[in-house]
Amino acid sequence: MTAVRVKGRDGTEQTVDATDGMALMESLRDAGLGVEGTCGGAMSCGTCHVYVAAAWADRLPARSQDEADMIEALADFVELRPTSRLSCQIPVDAGVEGLSVEIAPQV
Ligand code: FES
Repeated sequence: MTAVRVKGRDGTEQTVDATDGMALMESLRDAGLGVEGTCGGAMSCGTCHVYVAAAWADRLPARSQDEADMIEALADFVELRPTSRLSCQIPVDAGVEGLSVEIAPQV
């Protein structure tokens, strides 16, 4: 397990013990924080959108073109930030211990 700081849509912050070897989306979804992950990580739903803390932006694997395209498609519905990511594309391992994310508004 890897501890990740999460700010929910209601503004409360908590630590989520994310499961190593899986995508962050799955732990956020299982924690009941309103992340649906409808497409199961296929980058086609955008329901796993998070804002990554600026300090972490360059420490995660870069966005693929498919991820960038999905995020861009959310622009009509929610605020995008430079650190917007799909949490289904953030792999969890010890390297993200202490990662801080904010769950984006529901789409
Ligand atoms: S789970 Fe659908 S885009 Fe991430």
